[in-house]
Amino acid sequence: MCGIVGINSSKPVTGVILNSLKKLEYRGYDSAGVATLKDGFINETKCEGRVENLENIITKNKNDGPIGIGHVRWATHGQPSEVNAHPHSSEKVSVVHNGIIENSTLLKKHLIRAGHVFKSQTDTEVITHLITEYLKKHDLKTSILKMLKRLHGSFALGIIFKDFPDIIVGARRGSPLAVGYGPNENYLGSDSYALKTMTNKVSYLDDGEFCLIHKNQVEFFNSEGEKVNKEVLEVSSDDQNYDKGNFKHFMAKEIYEQPNTIKSCLKEYIDKINKDINIINFPWNSKEIESIKLIGCGTAYHSCLIAKYWIEQFTDIEVETDIASEFRYRKNKFKSSQLYIFVSQSGETADTYAALDLCIKNKMKTCSIVNVVESSIARDSGYVLPIHCGPEVGVASTKAFLGQLLVLYLLTLKISFLRNEISKDGYSTKIDNLLELPKLIENTLKIESEMQEASKDFSKAKGSMFLGRGYSFPIALEGALKLKELAYVHAEGYPAGEMKHGPLALIENGMPVVVIAPRDEFYKKTVSNMQEVISRGGKVLLISNKSTDEVSSENLWKKIEVETISDDLFPFLMTIPLQLLAYYAANSLGYDIDKPRNLAKSVTVE
Ligand code: AGP
Repeated sequence: MCGIVGINSSKPVTGVILNSLKKLEYRGYDSAGVATLKDGFINETKCEGRVENLENIITKNKNDGPIGIGHVRWATHGQPSEVNAHPHSSEKVSVVHNGIIENSTLLKKHLIRAGHVFKSQTDTEVITHLITEYLKKHDLKTSILKMLKRLHGSFALGIIFKDFPDIIVGARRGSPLAVGYGPNENYLGSDSYALKTMTNKVSYLDDGEFCLIHKNQVEFFNSEGEKVNKEVLEVSSDDQNYDKGNFKHFMAKEIYEQPNTIKSCLKEYIDKINKDINIINFPWNSKEIESIKLIGCGTAYHSCLIAKYWIEQFTDIEVETDIASEFRYRKNKFKSSQLYIFVSQSGETADTYAALDLCIKNKMKTCSIVNVVESSIARDSGYVLPIHCGPEVGVASTKAFLGQLLVLYLLTLKISFLRNEISKDGYSTKIDNLLELPKLIENTLKIESEMQEASKDFSKAKGSMFLGRGYSFPIALEGALKLKELAYVHAEGYPAGEMKHGPLALIENGMPVVVIAPRDEFYKKTVSNMQEVISRGGKVLLISNKSTDEVSSENLWKKIEVETISDDLFPFLMTIPLQLLAYYAANSLGYDIDKPRNLAKSVTVE
C-alpha cells in the first residue's frame, strides 16, 4: 500500500510530485523517493522517513526534469531504508510499485544468473531488471507485455525510460491505478486523490491493463496489447478538510467533527417531512433478501459486527459477518438471495476489494458503504451508500466509524420497513431518535478532560482489557484496537461474559480494564462480570450513561457517564470516550498520532 505519482510535462515536475506525495502519505510513510529524466539521464533521489526529508535532500541536489515518478512506501519486502525506498532504477529504467510480486525470489535467481546485480531487498527491483533485460531484445510495448506476463501477485506500476524520454508507463493488476489529464501534461497516480491537486479529469485502468502516458495523449492497452478506449471522468475537487485548523492532530479534529458529520449524513438520508429514509434506486426487492453477509477489515469490520445485532433485531433476515482477508480464501456458498455488504472508509482496502471481486464474479448482489466515492470498491459494487463524513486523514478511523454505523443502521431500518417488519410508528420513532444523535454526541464529547485523566494509567500499562456485552462487545473491540494502534499498549477486547472462560487469568493487581455498560438489557450482567474483574485486582473504568439509579460502584476506579439514548443507539455514544482515551494515551506518550508506526491509512496490499 504505497503511493505512486507520475508526471509527463514540458515544465520541471519535481515540486509538483513532492506536493502530491505529501498528500499520499496516508498510504505509507516509511520512505520516499523521486526519479526524473533530464538530458538523457535518470536521476534518482530517495530516503528513509517522510516526504519532508526527501524535500530537504532535493532542495540541495536539485533533482528535477520534465518527466518524473515519485513514491511513498509502506514496506512489504525489506526494512524501511534508503536502499529499499522506491524508485528502483537501472541505467535504462526507473520503477515505482505498489503491491507485492509473489514470485520475486524465483525471478531474482534467474536475473542474477543472467548477470544482474541487485541493490535492495525488495520484490520491486526484479521489475527493474526484468524490463531492462527485455528491452535489450524487444521494442517497448513487447517488453512491457513480456515483463507483465512474468509477474505474479498484485501491482500498480509507474516506469520511466532513458531511451523513451517522452513516455511514462503505467500498469496494474490487483492494485488500483488512475491516469489524469492536464493542459499539455498528463499524470499517473495510485488513485484519483493523488491527482486532485493537478486535475479532476481522470480515467481508471482496469485490471490487467497498461498505458503509455505522453505529454499530449494517453494510450491504453489490455493484457494482450490491444488498444482500448477509456472514459474520462470528472472527480470532485473538494480539497477542504485537509487542514487541521486549530487542532494539534487530524484525529482530534475528526473526533470533534462527529456531531457535524453525523448531522450531514442524516441530512443526506432522512426525509424529515415524510419521516422516511431515502435509500433511492436500491436495485433489489428487500422482501427477496433471505440473508446478508457483512464484510470489512479492522474498524470497518467492527461496524459490521454491530450491524449484525441491528439486522437481527429489526428484521428476520439471517446475517453473518466476515473479515475480508478470511472471506476471500474461504469455500463460500454463494446464494443469489444473499446481499453482500462491503464496508470500507477508503474503498481501496485490497482484501475488501478482493472479497467484492469474488462476489461480482459469482454474480452476487453487492452493496458498498464507503467514504471515498471515487474508490475502486464504490466504482465496482452494484450499489453504493456513501457515509458523507468528508476526508478522514488520521490513520485511526474515528468519524468514518460512526458514519459507517449510521449508514448501516439506516439501511437496516429501511429494509425492515420495506419488509413490514417494523410498524410505521416504530419506524418514525427510530427516525426521531436518530435526529437527536448529533446533539447527544456533542454533549458526550464534554467528557474529554475525564478521559484525558484516565488515559494516564492506560499509557503506562503493560496490558489492558475492554469488556462489553451485546452492542457494547464490538465497541470493546474497537476501543482496544484504537489503544493498540495509537498508544502501542497491548489491549484485548472481550465479551464480558467470556472472561471466566480464560481471559480472567490475565487480570492482575492494577491492570486497567474498561467496562462498557450502558443501562440496556445487559447492564446487570455486565456489572456482575465487572465485579469479578474488580475482585481479582482489575482497575475498572466503567463507561455507562446518566441514570437515576445508582451504579454498583463499589471499588470502581473511575466512572464515566455519557448521555442517555435508546438502547440500540448506544454504540454511537459509547465510542466517543474510547476514541478520546486512545488519543490522550498516545498524546501523553508523544507518539505520532496521525501516522502511527507500521501502519497506513489505505491498506492496498493483502
Ligand atoms: C482503523 O483505525 C484502522 N486504521 C483500520 O483498522 C481500518 O479500519 C482498516 O484498515 C480498514 O480500512 P478501510 O475502512 O479503508 O477499508
